[in-house]
Amino acid sequence: MNRLDFLKEQCTDKKHYPLLLAACRAALTGGFILRDLYGKPHTITMKGEINLVTEADVASETAIVASLQEDAPDIDVMAEESAGEDLKVPAGKLWVIDPLDGTTNFAHGFPIFAVSIALMENGQTTIGAVYCPLQDELFCCWQGGGSWLNGEKIQVTKTDFLVQALVATGFPYDIHAKLDAVISQMRAILPKVRDIRRAGAAAVDLAYVACGRLDGFYEMDLKPWDTAAGWLLVEEAGGRVTDFAGKKYSPFYPEILAANSALHPLLVKQLA
Ligand code: IPD
Ligand code: CA
Ligand code: CA
Repeated sequence: MNRLDFLKEQCTDKKHYPLLLAACRAALTGGFILRDLYGKPHTITMKGEINLVTEADVASETAIVASLQEDAPDIDVMAEESAGEDLKVPAGKLWVIDPLDGTTNFAHGFPIFAVSIALMENGQTTIGAVYCPLQDELFCCWQGGGSWLNGEKIQVTKTDFLVQALVATGFPYDIHAKLDAVISQMRAILPKVRDIRRAGAAAVDLAYVACGRLDGFYEMDLKPWDTAAGWLLVEEAGGRVTDFAGKKYSPFYPEILAANSALHPLLVKQLA
């Protein structure tokens, strides 16, 4: 049986199915490359003082883009390693790709990283796929179709007290400029919750909120490819995604707060 046959049974929606299949096929293609290169010596270049790019980011991106262009040749791509600085909310359809989310983890042999692929249509994600190659976990979702992990439907938690919540966050690459803000958020959240995780891959954090391994996630200074797929994963799993103030979310806005709907307002209050 083909690795992706399960999608045909789950996604009976004719509009979404071919593109969902394309997204998942491309996510697996990139992920297999990452798995092959994991643990071997890397060629590293620097995008900033602590912001790495490895040969795997580039190889994964090249293979993902080729796969998407084969399956859906008329849809443009925005992929991290070739996107440049000028990021605009897309009109029409656009694939938004992080070929390796968690590059620092990958380069250090810390086994949490993923490929993230979203199809955005006029600023809204309609299809999302996040693949964690070492765990062989494929998360996917489509608008109106729920969120799935390796063929099983997933849901956010029902935790409704902060003191019972496991919350994740992440730190920006320009930490020197943002240190006060990061610390003051941490000061507000950490004493209220059960614990905080910084696993190092925003797409994985969001996928883990979607499947209930985490109760919430917040981070500043993210890029569209970090969150475009995870945004829909959380919402289709019954969660809420906004900015820190609880306002409408867009992956083109740098801050994100994702949680189940009971905890979400409590976290907005702490982040205020
Ligand atoms: C990073 C990861 C990390 C987050 C950073 C992101 P990258 O993505 O998602 O968890 O804290 O802000 O840039 O650079 O590994 O693709
Ligand atoms: Ca990323
Ligand atoms: Ca990346």
